[in-house]
Amino acid sequence: MPVPLQASPARLWTDIDALSALREPVAPGWTRPFLSPSFVRSRGWVAERMRAAGLEASVDAALNVIGVWPGMSPRRPALMTGSHTDTVEGGGRFDGVAGVVAAIEVVRLLQEAGLALERDLVVVDFAGEEPNAFGLSCVGSRALSGQLEERHLALRDPEGTRLDDALAAAGGDPAAATRLGWQPGSIAAFVELHIEQGPILEAEGLDLGVVDSIVGIDRCAVELRGRPDHAGTTPTRLRRDALCAAAPLITWVESAADAHGLGTVGAITVEPGSLNVVPAAARLGIELRSAEEGWLDRTRAGLEACAREAAERRGVDAVLSWQEREPPVHCDDDVREAIAQAVRDGGLTPRRMASGAGHDAAMIAAVAPIGMLFVPSAEGRSHAPQEWTDPEHLARGTEALARTLLALDGGSTAA
Ligand code: GLV
Ligand code: MN
Ligand code: MN
Repeated sequence: MPVPLQASPARLWTDIDALSALREPVAPGWTRPFLSPSFVRSRGWVAERMRAAGLEASVDAALNVIGVWPGMSPRRPALMTGSHTDTVEGGGRFDGVAGVVAAIEVVRLLQEAGLALERDLVVVDFAGEEPNAFGLSCVGSRALSGQLEERHLALRDPEGTRLDDALAAAGGDPAAATRLGWQPGSIAAFVELHIEQGPILEAEGLDLGVVDSIVGIDRCAVELRGRPDHAGTTPTRLRRDALCAAAPLITWVESAADAHGLGTVGAITVEPGSLNVVPAAARLGIELRSAEEGWLDRTRAGLEACAREAAERRGVDAVLSWQEREPPVHCDDDVREAIAQAVRDGGLTPRRMASGAGHDAAMIAAVAPIGMLFVPSAEGRSHAPQEWTDPEHLARGTEALARTLLALDGGSTAA
């Protein structure tokens, strides 16, 4: 008989609403980017919420907030859950935040049910999951999985500031951050609850999704360098227009999408950006996403060929800088089945699905078996202020997360 567990939609919403007040004042939506003042303040807020729920909380060298709910047999490999609370520019209130507040609520509802775990439960608010100006996503989960390296810390933002300097200025310890990695075997399982960020669960009238795989991501900065000239006196045939060279690239990326992958040009800047000057430089920020590395390889090669051809035709130079690939990751079969059973035990139908979004879980997969649980996103909206998940849905997801952790604990007892 599954243990009856009841998460509180009101408590979950109260936490989400309170955290959403910590945001950058002049930015649109709910904007709390990695290392921003609001992000730094959020470390203390999350740690306080963890302490109020009975966890031992601290902020580590990478600015992850870590809460530990000690188990009865702490020498056993720990269970880990959590997500992130940084946001994209103009983002919403739920991406990542849902998984952090749900993880804290799990501790409250297990206590209310009079249960204790055998293993330590480690709740993490991972620092800097979203892409940032340094060109590195998943900074905190990269560190906890032992994958944050010196070369990452040397990355610079467009103003030339190094990541290690920015991390130190925000209160982190870059050198120590490279030594945070948990050893393989020290985490029995990592389970992340997240909003779906897509339309499937809502369209099918289902409450919870169980993730099979997390998409792989290639990100590329393309710089096309032409020549600035007078826009009124330079005939078209004599121009080296960098923006016109960029145009076929943009539509090529869109047309590369098929059943196996997607491409997006999400950023563009033009120099000098004057109406009466032929564009001298165009910079594109491009993403390719697929669960298949073969698709990423092929599409990357196609993009490089397209850029070469477009540059040649316009007499401009093309420089492509690829970020490190985030490879596709498959969830662990046993963790996935534990999540699916926990959903069924709550009287709901688990919907198997792939994640088209990247997640901290993909990093933690390097050191632990991982699984993910999705709750519905209204109209599939995400990375936008309209992002919404019904607190009732989040409560059902939180209960399933709690049941999953109980099952993976393999020996929880009445406290
Ligand atoms: C994270 O939200 C991502 O998929 O980029
Ligand atoms: Mn996101
Ligand atoms: Mn996220």
